[in-house]
Amino acid sequence: MRHKPYTTFAFFKAAVAGSGLLVVLLAFLEWGLGLPVFLPGIALLLLAFSVLGFRILQLIYKFQLSRIHDTNQVEALLWLYSRFTPSVNLPAMREVAGSPDFLKVLVEYYYSHQPQVIVEAGSGVSSIILSEVLKKEGSTTRHYALDHLEKYAGLTSEKVLNPHSEVLFAPLKAYHIDGNSWKWYDINVLEKVDKIDMLVIDGPTEDIQPLARYPALPLLKEKLSDRVVIILDDTNRRDEQRIIQLWQKEFGLHAKSMFTEKGTVVMWR
Ligand SMILES: C[S@@+](CC[C@H](N)C(=O)[O-])C[C@H]1O[C@@H](n2cnc3c(N)ncnc32)[C@H](O)[C@@H]1O
Repeated sequence: MRHKPYTTFAFFKAAVAGSGLLVVLLAFLEWGLGLPVFLPGIALLLLAFSVLGFRILQLIYKFQLSRIHDTNQVEALLWLYSRFTPSVNLPAMREVAGSPDFLKVLVEYYYSHQPQVIVEAGSGVSSIILSEVLKKEGSTTRHYALDHLEKYAGLTSEKVLNPHSEVLFAPLKAYHIDGNSWKWYDINVLEKVDKIDMLVIDGPTEDIQPLARYPALPLLKEKLSDRVVIILDDTNRRDEQRIIQLWQKEFGLHAKSMFTEKGTVVMWR
């Protein structure tokens, strides 16, 4: 968290000293010079302190929450490493990449749901982790990860060593859904894929269009198995919350929220 000057003790001391001086000045103006400024000045001062106090409380809350999330990332990472030892160096997690608590949700669902076909929208560390888990378990589950950026598709592909996992470069393509124009991965690369029973949606990036991930279900609905589990990341964002509402309305999905730092929601029919 970035420290603001008003979160420091030095600022607090300066504010109290400054306010004391201001009160003396206001008193002098009112009773020495006869200007009616004392009460309005005090009212303004109280208002300024209330706004600052509120902002400081907000920052304390954010700070406490980020401490909880930081601890959860360490615990999730330890959990992941207790499950398997990666055979490649893992790229940096968090920020634009998947966070350990999200990756843990994916691995937990792999074990509990035993999918035969996994598709990921948005490749990266999640693809490497899933491919490593599948390899360790000797699984024949087919696993495909889409990426619209050739550079990242290539970088991730180099670290996906399980023969049943594949990173597919799928440039964004224009689609029409219910009369509206959208961009999404070119799903022709999934031509031979059907009965997807685990769909992980962590791409494309939000800058490509409003509700960037909405097209996932309208475009892939024919390819989903009846027992599909859909895992959407970044659900702390308003766009993703709206997407869940739309999908629930259009596809009658159940949804469960997982407490992760970016927000993760698991959905099923
Ligand atoms: C949210 S990321 C996908 C994250 C992926 N599921 C993971 O766990 O890392 C969405 C897209 O960002 C792009 N991307 C990946 N790494 C990136 C980086 N270091 N900087 C910018 N974009 C990146 C890729 O095109 C990726 O498909």
